[in-house]
Amino acid sequence: MNPSTHISLLPPLLLLLLLLSLLSTSHAAITCYTSIFSFGDSLADTGNLLHDVGKNNIHVGRLPYGETYFRRPTGRFSDGRLVVDFLAQAMGLPLLPPYLAGPGRKGFRRGANFAVAGATAIENGFFTEKGIQVLWSNNSLGSQIEWFRQLLPSLCSSDSDCNDMFRNSLFLVGEIGGNDYNYPFLQARSLDEIVSYVPRVMDAISSAITALIELGARTLVVPGNFPIGCNSAYLTVFRSNRSEDYDAIGCIKWLNKFSRFHNNRLRVVLNRVRLRNPHATVIYADYYSAAMSLFSSPEPSGFRISPLPACCGGGGPYNYNSSLQCGNSGSNICADPSIYITWDGMHMTEAAYRKIAIGLLKGPNAVPAILNTCPQTNQEFSRPQYVLSDDVLDG
Ligand SMILES: *[C@@H]1O[C@H](CO)[C@@H](O)[C@H](O)[C@H]1NC(C)=O
Ligand SMILES: *[C@@H]1O[C@H](CO)[C@@H](O)[C@H](O)[C@H]1NC(C)=O
Ligand SMILES: *[C@@H]1O[C@H](CO)[C@@H](O)[C@H](O)[C@H]1NC(C)=O
Repeated sequence: MNPSTHISLLPPLLLLLLLLSLLSTSHAAITCYTSIFSFGDSLADTGNLLHDVGKNNIHVGRLPYGETYFRRPTGRFSDGRLVVDFLAQAMGLPLLPPYLAGPGRKGFRRGANFAVAGATAIENGFFTEKGIQVLWSNNSLGSQIEWFRQLLPSLCSSDSDCNDMFRNSLFLVGEIGGNDYNYPFLQARSLDEIVSYVPRVMDAISSAITALIELGARTLVVPGNFPIGCNSAYLTVFRSNRSEDYDAIGCIKWLNKFSRFHNNRLRVVLNRVRLRNPHATVIYADYYSAAMSLFSSPEPSGFRISPLPACCGGGGPYNYNSSLQCGNSGSNICADPSIYITWDGMHMTEAAYRKIAIGLLKGPNAVPAILNTCPQTNQEFSRPQYVLSDDVLDG
């Protein structure tokens, strides 16, 4: 081998190291982004809601939440780490502190998490005016952006200081929007009505990412929605005796079609934001495909053959019962969460989130893959503006 062959072998080697670090608990730091700021709902909340509500007042404040990695409940809606935790660890960063718990000793310079379980993209008033009950007010995406704006003066002191900082920051905006549909779906609103909310959800997401770019964000990852038709809670609530409602996996087709509809609209919106902000890199994270590939071939990924029931829940065909949630007494817990995709009926296990995080870091579920955007290691990498054509969107 000549020296140039050695050099060309380096990137895959770095990738391998990164994967090894994800698979172990060690922090083999890859220098990539130097801070992460995260916005969203329970898929990314690392303790904000728990801080607000108090450990004794919510099921997520009890074991088995957190049992796999933290050995205690942290407010994460999973048995362990979330996607945002894996992204942080892959980059050698501390796990993101929840903003509402305050800056603590270390402050928020290496990142902060504004995501709150139950949060919607659209502000609460929209739902309450329609008679739709929203849990925990005033945590919508707009509020979260406002909290970030208020935090700014403590993060950096001048325009150039802030620009330096945010050039090296990754912004994870979402998943968000799922609850805008969960509340009405689970409160028996019609599909037509819920479809009519989609443009408002898009406006909220578009305004939020545009605001972040104006505040200095340069690289943003914006996830789409998961396939709700494979979600144990939806499978339980919308159970049907018509076999044509189900796909080959056992997911409900019309619900997944709705998730794809949201995601296709979101990709159009992101294209528009990219065209208006050519200096920013806006990455669509394809949570839908990432999850579907786990559900459709669970065994090769290390999951059990029958992938739809939740690990922790109140019994029934999908181990989900809305009046007997995971963490409440009388609920049951599987012996081995690492072979389950779904954790508590609405959220995924650490094992599933780990697979999804890898799909974002190295592809194929983010384009460009997050690791191909590192401002630190890939100085020579000229960041392509990835603009999807409408053909790709429809395909
Ligand atoms: C939410 O915000 C509105 C307007 O600022 C306020 O009137 C209301 O009390 C807040 N609700 C909660 C639960 O904090
Ligand atoms: C399917 O369920 C509906 C109502 O839930 C019921 O009226 C119908 O008889 C059922 N059909 C079959 C074939 O079981
Ligand atoms: C769900 O849990 C409640 C409370 O324990 C119980 O009364 C109900 O029968 C359960 N529902 C089903 C379908 O198992």
